[in-house]
This record gives sequence, C-alpha cells and structure tokens, in this order.
Amino acid sequence: MSFNLIVFEASEDGIASVTINRPEKLNALNGALLGELDQAFRQVAGDRAVKGLLITGAGEKAFVAGADVAELAVGSSRAAEEMSLRGQGIFRQLEELGKPSVAAINGYALGGGMELALACTVRVASANARLGLPEIRLGIMPGYGGTQRLARLVGRGRALEMLLTGEPVTAQEALQSGLVNHVVPQEELAAFSRELLRRMTAHAPLAAAAILEAVDAGIESGLEAGLELEAAGFAALAATEDAIEGTRAFLEKRKPVFKGK
Ligand code: COA
Repeated sequence: MSFNLIVFEASEDGIASVTINRPEKLNALNGALLGELDQAFRQVAGDRAVKGLLITGAGEKAFVAGADVAELAVGSSRAAEEMSLRGQGIFRQLEELGKPSVAAINGYALGGGMELALACTVRVASANARLGLPEIRLGIMPGYGGTQRLARLVGRGRALEMLLTGEPVTAQEALQSGLVNHVVPQEELAAFSRELLRRMTAHAPLAAAAILEAVDAGIESGLEAGLELEAAGFAALAATEDAIEGTRAFLEKRKPVFKGK
C-alpha cells in the first residue's frame, strides 16, 4: 500500500515510524489519513521484525491539530457515530499492538491529535508543544477515546478541567500531570524519542507484549483479575526460549540474545 498523507518507514533496528504529513493543515486528521493510519498499524502488528512504533507530525508547529474540522459537520447523528467508532477502532488497534509506541509530540496535539497520542504507550513532548481537547469549544466532545484515556492517565479532576475548559496545557504542565513522560528541546525530540523507544524494545518482545497486556487489561479489570492475568503471563513466559536465554545469560555474565520465541 502506498501512503500519501503519512510517511511510513521501517528501519533495520526494528523501529517503525509514522510521520503525519499534512503540515499545511497542521496535520489535521481527515478520513483518508485515518485510513492510512489503519493500514500502517496493521502492517506494524503483522510484521515480526517491527518491535516498536514512533509517531510524530511533519513540520515544527504541530503533531496533529485535531480531526479535520472541515469534515466534522457531518450533519446526522448516525454518520457522527460511525466516524467516532471508526476512529476509536483505529486508535484501539494502536493501543493493542502488543508492541510499545511513543508519540513524539512536536507542537500542537489537539483533539484527535491528543487522542492519538493518548493511545500510544508513552508520550514525549517538545518544549513548544500544547496539548488539549478543545472539542467543547466547537459544541462537541472528543470522539476518539479522549474522555476515557485522559481520565485514566491523569485522573478525573485534571481530565475534567481540560475537557470542560477546552484549554490546552503547556508541555511543562503536561509533564507535571503525567500526561507526557518527558519534555525536551524541539531539536532533540526525534532522537530522544527514538532512543527511548529503542530502550523499551531492547529486550524480549514476548515479555514486552505480556507486560503491556497485564498493565492495560489489569487496569480495566481490577486488582484480583489483574493479578491472575499477571500470573498467567508470568507462567507463559517461563516456558519461552527467551526466558531461558535471559536467565542463563545473566548467570554467565553476558548479554542475552533474544529471539522472540
Ligand atoms: N482541521 C482542519 N484544518 C485545520 C485544523 C483542523 N483541526 N487545524 C488547523 N487547520 C488549518 C487551518 O484552517 C489553516 O488552514 P488555511 O491555511 O487553509 O486557512 C492551517 O491549518 C493553519 O492553521 P492556523 O489556524 O492558520 O494556524 P494558527 O497558528 O493561527 O493556529 C491553532 C493554530 C492550532 C491554534 C488553530 O489552527 C486551531 O485552533 N486549530 C483547530 C484546533 C481544534 O479545534 N482541533 C480540534 C478539532 S476536534
């Protein structure tokens, strides 16, 4: 599949990257662009050589300044619901890749852009970034998971303040609330984010997938069910070649060579 609105690259170190590439519209997400993201996420999910995904925006001004406002006035409730469910499904795919993803937020991350970043495993912001869910200012509400993921990440009170005022926060404010994990100068954002993702994908991929599942599913299902899930993952990993290699390499004082088996 060829891409027109995103740049999709897979490098030899197992890190794939998606750059949203519509800088003249501040990388706003239209329907066609969402379709390309869908394809890219499927490719990442299906390619064993890809261990992690980096997502950023083209240019120095915006990560993604929201869903394309020109497409928002869909008129009917039915069409709006379809739009919301489609976007939610695509972002859920990203969240459930079973591989870490990093949003490198290089400027405005508003509305759908913030929701895209929220579906990533972690977020890194450049110092000039502004993050917000301004939908209420348009008389609407977030439809790609923003009301759910923001409250889970930063807590109900902080989330509701952002959702109800519609006002963006600065990168530093986002850092304080845990909305982003790091803030770096813009010129260092790409390298810093790639290196963070490299560190998160440097180990056994089956262990990474099991950790992602235990944390994400465990948060949803409560402590008891989450602990069961952890024990099941712990048991499944114990039988893998990588677990044998990892423990043996430690005892032999050498670096492990993981194979994803
Ligand atoms: N959808 C469609 N187009 C958008 C867009 C969006 N979400 N965000 C920006 N653009 C377009 C602008 O219409 C403009 O296009 P034009 O040059 O053809 O007129 C271009 O991107 C540049 O944006 P502009 O508004 O001129 O830049 P700015 O620096 O003055 O302001 C923002 C930047 C982010 C504050 C402003 O663009 C904005 O408020 N965008 C909408 C944010 C939003 O409400 N997103 C949530 C939607 S649910």
